[in-house]
Amino acid sequence: MDSKSPSAVKASAFQTATHLAHRGLAALLVATVATATAEAAGDAARGEALYRDCQACHSFDKNQIGPMHRGVVGRAAGTVAGFDYSEALKNAGIVWTEANLDKWLADPEVLVPGSKMYFSVDKAGDRADLIAFLKERAK
Ligand code: HEC
Repeated sequence: MDSKSPSAVKASAFQTATHLAHRGLAALLVATVATATAEAAGDAARGEALYRDCQACHSFDKNQIGPMHRGVVGRAAGTVAGFDYSEALKNAGIVWTEANLDKWLADPEVLVPGSKMYFSVDKAGDRADLIAFLKERAK
């Protein structure tokens, strides 16, 4: 410490402590937000179990009652070769972002009126888990 008077040194130490306390609080808040986001992003392992319901009609690599899901996250809707989509989904002009998948799974008829997937997932948490699963595993 150079020419500062003892009281000036004390004051700046106090400021530093206050500053660190604020930083600590901020870090805590960031950590809390990060946890909340991780939850919103879904749990792929839970999604895998929930995906069994989808497998009545879908698989990753074969068109069945529903189109194959390989690469579905980020894919344009209604574009799997050889699958007989509804006109509505074929012409929907949407991309399967996570937000659109969430809307689709909540109620396909609302997102794409005239589509023909007669299945929906009521709980937002279940939808998030399913989407996390598709994103991670159905690449
Ligand atoms: C009862 C059969 C059935 C079940 C169960 C089902 N789907 Fe579907 N799914 C379909 C059909 C049929 C389509 C095509 C809809 C159309 O052409 O309008 C489709 C389309 C989709 C699409 C659009 C894909 C694309 O290529 O555009 C996604 C995404 C999808 N389903 C996800 C799911 C998920 C996730 C589940 C489980 C939560 C699920 N589906 C359960 C029948 C089903």
